[in-house]
Amino acid sequence: MINPGELKLTAVSLDIKRVAAGALVLGVARGTDGPRLLASPLPAAATAALQASLSVLGVGGAADEVRRVPAGAGHLADVIVLTGLGKVEGDAPTSEALRRAAGAATRALSGVPTVLFALPAETLEQAAAVAEGISFGAYAFATHRSESPRASALPPTAAVLATAAAADPALPAVLKRAAVLGRAVRATRDLVNLAPNVLYPESFAQLAKDAAKSLPVKVTVLDDKRLEKDGYGGLIGVGRGSARLPRLVKVEYSPAKAAKHLALVGKGITFDTGGISIKPAGSMHEMKSDMAGAAAVLQTVLAIAELGLPVKATAWLCLAENMPSGTATRPGDVISIYGGKTVEVLNTDAEGRLVMADGLVAASADAPDALIDVATLTGAQMVALGTRTAGVMGDTTLRNAVVDAADRAGEFAWAMPIPEELRASIDSQVADLANIGERHGGMMTAAAFLAEFVGEVDGVKIPWAHVDIAGPAFNTGSAYGYTPKNGTGFSVRTLVALAEAMAAGN
Ligand code: BES
Ligand code: MN
Ligand code: ZN
Repeated sequence: MINPGELKLTAVSLDIKRVAAGALVLGVARGTDGPRLLASPLPAAATAALQASLSVLGVGGAADEVRRVPAGAGHLADVIVLTGLGKVEGDAPTSEALRRAAGAATRALSGVPTVLFALPAETLEQAAAVAEGISFGAYAFATHRSESPRASALPPTAAVLATAAAADPALPAVLKRAAVLGRAVRATRDLVNLAPNVLYPESFAQLAKDAAKSLPVKVTVLDDKRLEKDGYGGLIGVGRGSARLPRLVKVEYSPAKAAKHLALVGKGITFDTGGISIKPAGSMHEMKSDMAGAAAVLQTVLAIAELGLPVKATAWLCLAENMPSGTATRPGDVISIYGGKTVEVLNTDAEGRLVMADGLVAASADAPDALIDVATLTGAQMVALGTRTAGVMGDTTLRNAVVDAADRAGEFAWAMPIPEELRASIDSQVADLANIGERHGGMMTAAAFLAEFVGEVDGVKIPWAHVDIAGPAFNTGSAYGYTPKNGTGFSVRTLVALAEAMAAGN
């Protein structure tokens, strides 16, 4: 059911003899004195002719500008695709500019099975960026179509990179990493894009089991009876309004030589109607994406396993469907989170923090070295940071490490505080806590709530960070760069980068 597709990534040196490719991708920078063709492997005369025609073709080199032109006889491919890199300092575009330019070209190349990319890729780092952009851009979601897509709608299945680093012994590992990351990102998008009548807690748990089968990853599913018995009141309280009962899924990769343990907790509300505090109808369907955190942490652990990183990684998927019904939790109900803390539910639409509280307590019991939760938690995240930048909160050191990992990975994330004065706003008149509080800065109020459920080891709080991905997880606008419409796969790359840093002893 989730089929992120296969993409073969290979490399050739710059003196390209013959490559059977349907298209050749070249980069164009937006220079101060007009568009500039970069790193063309074509013969000098052909390069000069193409450079001279850019302005007439209306090619400016802006980011996300992709233009197909005929290649002419005797060239390396039938068609040349010019992809904009935006403004470039000197001749070296940034990694993210390369990722986006490669991704935008790949999105435009549906129907072309094999593509040759001759974007500036002098260094391993640049080659990695091009490979990643291709991997993230080669995506289509057709699971729910009654007929399989026409060939012209299929993304490329093979990409050849022309790079000066082709003979570098480190390149195969770089290409493998790009392929693994790409598969994880695309599989995350698939899970997010699946219709909520198809992806519900039980089926999500089954998909997690299926996806882990070929890897050294153990998947344990706690069903609703077990959750009830063990006192997971957050998952039960949120899920009780639905006929599709909740699940808690533990996904473990535990290599022999692991130095550190990274625990991840993901919000997996497979559909969020708001419950009794029901949401308006307008864009409610977008709430099928409210499980993006769980999808991302699942795929992160699978990617870490596939890369064989020497880090123990555990993902906890907090799966429930938030529905209104005769059995649903009401505003005013008091529930008891795993471990015993009680919460007065004043708004059933603030459900994410309830299931995440169960997950944080459960994950804390393993005493991980770092505990990171990922959730499409608040609309306030988008008010604060917009639709493309995640908010990162929690303990200063780990919070900043997550932001740094995002910077390296090419995802936008921004450190936000958890102001001390917000804590009192989630006091309840009847229970230990209320599930809503100060409305202003609501992303941080939600974080203050989650902080109450992070465990301690020998009286010391487990290092914790909270990532609110409400905006970046789901693209309701147009596609851009390597990012498609709808599910984006956000946070997988950041979390893998963080795991790599932990593996390297940071
Ligand atoms: N899943 C939503 C948050 C959300 C909104 C994610 C829009 C993506 C796009 C969450 O469960 C929610 O409803 N949060 C409420 C909290 C409020 C009741 C305190 C919100 O943000 O309005
Ligand atoms: Mn909600
Ligand atoms: Zn929600």
